[in-house]
Amino acid sequence: MKVLIIGNGGREHALAWKVSKSKIVSDIYLARGNAGTSSFCKNIDIDATDIDSLLEFAIDKKIDLTIVGPEDSLCMGIVDKFKENGLKIFGPDKSCARFEKSKKFTKEFLEKYKIPTAKYKFFTCFDDAKESLKEFSYPLVIKADGLCLGKGVIICQNENEAISTLEDIFIKKIFKEEGSTVIIEEFLKGIEESLLCMVADNKLFPLETCKDHKQIYDGNKGPNTGGVGTYSPNNFSNKTKYNIEKILGKIEYGLSDSGFHYYGILFIGFMIDEDEPKVLEFNVRFGDPETETLMPRLKSDLISLIDKCLNKTLTREDIIWSDDYCLSLILVSDGYPSKYEKNKVISGIERVNNSLVFHNGTKIKDGYILSDGGRVLTICSKAKSLQEARKIAYDDCNRIYFENKYYRTDIGLN
Ligand code: AMP
Ligand code: GLY
Repeated sequence: MKVLIIGNGGREHALAWKVSKSKIVSDIYLARGNAGTSSFCKNIDIDATDIDSLLEFAIDKKIDLTIVGPEDSLCMGIVDKFKENGLKIFGPDKSCARFEKSKKFTKEFLEKYKIPTAKYKFFTCFDDAKESLKEFSYPLVIKADGLCLGKGVIICQNENEAISTLEDIFIKKIFKEEGSTVIIEEFLKGIEESLLCMVADNKLFPLETCKDHKQIYDGNKGPNTGGVGTYSPNNFSNKTKYNIEKILGKIEYGLSDSGFHYYGILFIGFMIDEDEPKVLEFNVRFGDPETETLMPRLKSDLISLIDKCLNKTLTREDIIWSDDYCLSLILVSDGYPSKYEKNKVISGIERVNNSLVFHNGTKIKDGYILSDGGRVLTICSKAKSLQEARKIAYDDCNRIYFENKYYRTDIGLN
């Protein structure tokens, strides 16, 4: 069987690594992949957003299954295009991808189906948004409606910060059209949870629990990133689990009632306070670095799960997990999540022997592995306890060198 994976990050490297364990898979192609995937897959030079060329490639190579990583491709309608041409593809169609394309769309869905979420208002002009600030207390959260590479959520501690954020979005247009609608939202406190569900025609099959760390600095300080450390499982009380199940039921009902036929992954971001989960956001794809942390714990064959999901024969019992803990640590470039350095020579990956190393942003040039992104490498370790997994990951992280390497030192402590 030939599999095509769209994307070039750590998420796609982890998916490819897991797919490579499947006995029925003969060839794995990555578009475009990175230095890490080039060692065991065929990287092809087509961008994730060049849907026509991807389709042509998939038809030409007789690809049996395509797995989509990034949201851009999904929001552009890659699934619709592949299905129209009779190709098997795992991901939601363009209509369902609106749950990530527009935060307003998701908020309205959550409100309609009485799914707990932060109180919010949305705006399309600076003056109205500024005027309404007095209705909120601080901190508050300002979100650009559209796709902003994980940078569209700003937590403001006071009115000055809020006004300057609104100016950035509405007047300086830092997010261009993606910021033409803005959501102002109540700040929720609690523990975050990334719950990825496989979805078979609106029916949700949750994967294991996983905690992401979004802020760049220790102690959850500094600006938000795409995620710089994760661990799984993220254990919860039975009451929390019960409340999450109730929410999953409402989402399933809402999807069907709205006439969707959702297939693929629905990533639900929760904030959980005193056993009460509230939905922060939906993503319509695998998380990054959640996927790097979940794949090594997944015992079942991923291809078989995806196949069952697409055929609507998947059951919860099919998804089998190891009891071990997994912890992932992301090594990032100096400057990330703002302007960051690139092209730093990376050494020492071969000295890592107890962890998996997934490449997030790397390339090969003249025989050297170079950094090529804000997030560079994920060090993922698996052990019987979280503390042990943490120790192994941090030991292995010290074996890798590139100039101005940065990582959080508190992943797994909170
Ligand atoms: P989102 O893209 O909506 O998940 O937001 C990115 C990150 O911002 C989340 O993972 C949270 O850490 C944080 N965040 C978003 N919305 C809120 C909120 N209402 N209250 C507190 N933190 C939030
Ligand atoms: N780690 C969060 C995300 O993938 O959006």
